[in-house]
Amino acid sequence: MALDVDRARAETRGLENQVHLNNAGAALMPAPVADRLRAFLTAEERFGGYETAAAEQAALENFYTAGARLLNARPDEIAFVENATRAWDMAFYALPLGPGDRVLTSHAEYGSNMIAYLHRARQTGAEVAVIPADDTGTLDLDALTGMIDDRVKLISISHVPTGGGLVNPAAEVGAIARAHGIPYLLDACQSAGQMPLDVAAIGCDFLSATGRKYLRGPRGTGLLYVARRWIERLDPPLLDQHAAELISATEYVVRDDARRFENWECFFAGKAALGLAIDYAMDWDLSAIWQRVRHLADRLRAGLADLPHVTVTDRGREHCGLVTFTHSRQSADAIKAAAAQAGFNVSVSSGSGSLIDFRARGLSAVTRASVHYYNTDDEVDRFTAFIGRIPS
Ligand SMILES: Cc1ncc(COP(=O)(O)O)c(C=O)c1O
Repeated sequence: MALDVDRARAETRGLENQVHLNNAGAALMPAPVADRLRAFLTAEERFGGYETAAAEQAALENFYTAGARLLNARPDEIAFVENATRAWDMAFYALPLGPGDRVLTSHAEYGSNMIAYLHRARQTGAEVAVIPADDTGTLDLDALTGMIDDRVKLISISHVPTGGGLVNPAAEVGAIARAHGIPYLLDACQSAGQMPLDVAAIGCDFLSATGRKYLRGPRGTGLLYVARRWIERLDPPLLDQHAAELISATEYVVRDDARRFENWECFFAGKAALGLAIDYAMDWDLSAIWQRVRHLADRLRAGLADLPHVTVTDRGREHCGLVTFTHSRQSADAIKAAAAQAGFNVSVSSGSGSLIDFRARGLSAVTRASVHYYNTDDEVDRFTAFIGRIPS
């Protein structure tokens, strides 16, 4: 089903100001979500934070039902966390690892995840091994199968890496993890909101996502999914009196749902608004969003690839809404600055975020233009023409 782009644009006030191609950084909130967030904060101002939370109980609970619907999970498998990194951490740091255990991860792994693997490797004596990419840059499933042995205690990959348009084969990895009974953690930070995600079909045990990117929620919000079968087997790395209850001077009982991974104090307005942002995305239909995002990204990639001095740096067999490129004469930072002057929001991927993958490819920084369903062919073409005019 085709998306009503005019309505999507009419409900996105930020589009009046610029061409927003930084959706993988933070997408523009739809008006109903931004209005909901503002109304919640106004109520906190007028009536008090605790009083507003009590009055908004239904909207706060809606976060869990919306998150469950998004992922084909159960509401008690969903936790609200302040961002994708902490959501991911709460699962990763809860998993037992010891000397000689192995964690298998993707080649284009997100930098913070890589740091956490190395951190725990230093703490526990476990090892991190990178699953090679095939010649398209996609995680090599045969190589993964060949790396499986009794020492592998976790498979943990980025679905869509931060620095390119690659989509890793999440469900195929899930089938391998399931076949060998190995826990599987999926970083869906960049994929949630741009494509349908079904944890049963993917076969992951844990999944992390952020609110502000393709889900179009507010900053400072994130989501963790933990499969029911795992919840009570995982000891969260941090506990408070929301995650657990103190029952005597020496004892506490940890909650039996995914909220054991949460904090008591959190961004309540953001939680209500993210629930609404998820409902809003589901109303459009994730398959329709995915179809349109790929159409726009393919058009942008093809246009950029035709330009002299421009090299599209996306790899992978399957591509998504992130489009990355280099220019033979201008740095990524210079392109970002010039684009901002001309009314185009883009970002730069560099440094820690994609270090292993970029080093292997001799890249240090790329310009990242990331489309969402509310962008248009005309915006994509104008951006391509703008890049074509950059002095070289
Ligand atoms: C693949 C990937 N994982 C995790 C994150 C971290 O998300 P957050 O900033 O919400 O913690 C990012 C952020 O860009 C990302 O691209």
